[in-house]
Amino acid sequence: MSTLHPRLDAAAADFIRREHRLLIDGRWVAASSGRLFEVEDPGTGRIIARVAEGVARDIDLAVDAARRAFDGGDWPKLKPADRSRLLLRLADLIERHGDELAQLEVMDNGKPLAVARRGILGTADMVRYMAGWATKFNGEAVPLSMPGEWHAYTVREAVGVVGQIIPWNFPLSMAIWKLAPALAAGCTIVLKPAEQTPLNALRLGELILEAGFPAGVVNIVTGFGAEAGAALAAHPKVDKVAFTGSTQTGKRIVQAALGNLKKVTLELGGKSPVFIFPDADLEAAVPGAANAIFFNSGQVCSAGSRLYVHARVYERVVADLAAYGDRLRLGHGMEEGVDLGPLISRVQMERVRGYIEKGCSDGATLVSQRRLDGGDGFFVAPTVLADTRAEMSVVREEIFGPVLCAMPFDDDDLERLAGLANDSDYGLFAGIWTRDFGMAHKLAKRIRAGSVSVNAHMVNDPALPFGGFKQSGWGRERGREALDIYSELKSVAINLG
Ligand code: NAI
Ligand code: MG
Repeated sequence: MSTLHPRLDAAAADFIRREHRLLIDGRWVAASSGRLFEVEDPGTGRIIARVAEGVARDIDLAVDAARRAFDGGDWPKLKPADRSRLLLRLADLIERHGDELAQLEVMDNGKPLAVARRGILGTADMVRYMAGWATKFNGEAVPLSMPGEWHAYTVREAVGVVGQIIPWNFPLSMAIWKLAPALAAGCTIVLKPAEQTPLNALRLGELILEAGFPAGVVNIVTGFGAEAGAALAAHPKVDKVAFTGSTQTGKRIVQAALGNLKKVTLELGGKSPVFIFPDADLEAAVPGAANAIFFNSGQVCSAGSRLYVHARVYERVVADLAAYGDRLRLGHGMEEGVDLGPLISRVQMERVRGYIEKGCSDGATLVSQRRLDGGDGFFVAPTVLADTRAEMSVVREEIFGPVLCAMPFDDDDLERLAGLANDSDYGLFAGIWTRDFGMAHKLAKRIRAGSVSVNAHMVNDPALPFGGFKQSGWGRERGREALDIYSELKSVAINLG
């Protein structure tokens, strides 16, 4: 396992080389299976670490620990300001270890170091934002019209023990998006990281202990979805499961949750439309639309993967987008000056390449010039497909790779344009590039999606709720809504006599 990237600092390299265990009840323990699974560097395809393979028995132990921490112990006694203080301490630790966490993110996931670094700082901000809510998450007094005199009020209470199952595309951010609001709301947690990217969640577990969170409040069980993930989603003592990943697995989570009717929130796939109107500032719209699909090598649930361009500027925009993609520098995330890293795995690379071939055989035109020939790592070149049509699988299905499907439109009928956007099982995001704000507002109103950006893409502010319509999910993360999904609302009515 001496295959780590030479640019890694000692802190990250030492962490990767360590023995990786499960965090249960404040202690690092071996998996009861005794088994380990391998973690690959997607930039080279080489094995860099072995991690404990948690199974159903470990999920039981972790849930029991979370249950004890929620039902008794120190955690329920903590004041909101104390929860806030712990979260703020965690945010400081994330920032202090930012370089190490960014390097681990690169080795886990493959993304370029500079991108990982920005992401890590963003997670610290998210933790601080949620820390602020811990002291402001209140119910309200309710005036009753019943006969007699009453004092009635609502209280927000933590939903309880939460199972959180996260994907591999932004390993640390996804962990924080889930953990921070749940902790602010007063829940206890069992986190199941993606099997492709377990390292940064484990390092985060250490920082959580260092910040001073009581034992059992955050438990981390690494392992596979079909075993550890499925056990967590089905567990009778878990009050709520929060999941981010594929729509297909999201449906399995819902089925698994039926047993005890645990609460479920889901942040699932997308096939998000981006519109470029002829009056748009193309200097901004072209790089905007390019980054909407190429950022993180397209492995983003809100990727702008369907591009609708007005016929007047279609040829130019498509050519410019393809040229933009052809100029992006691909490489190992630890190399200097890299714009795009590899995809997460060989499976994902082959899946994405399969879609590109299918699109071409269905009649799409491959506009991008770059062809990759072999080499290490799971790379797919930025790919622009023109002449795509609504019925093609490349236009209908989430590809989760750097593949853009471009289509022209030539009318101004907003109902028809919204119809194009809404012709999808998904409804996560939409982008609009124009100088006509009246039209942009009208179109935004007609699009069935959880987020719409005008002249921007991926507005990643912790205050802005995020989540999907239709098969893109249930519930909203970020903003105050992120605490709502980790709480129950209780109403209390007192007859004053
Ligand atoms: P996935 O949805 O199967 O995996 C996401 C998480 O769910 C992982 O932690 C995994 O271990 C867990 N999981 C898998 N099966 C489970 C089960 N039966 N019960 C409980 N947990 C389970 O996604 P996968 O297989 O890694 O990627 C396949 C496709 O999913 C991608 O090509 C992409 O289209 C989509 N995807 C979407 C994401 C998003 O953010 N919307 C993130 C990751 C993948
Ligand atoms: Mg899967």
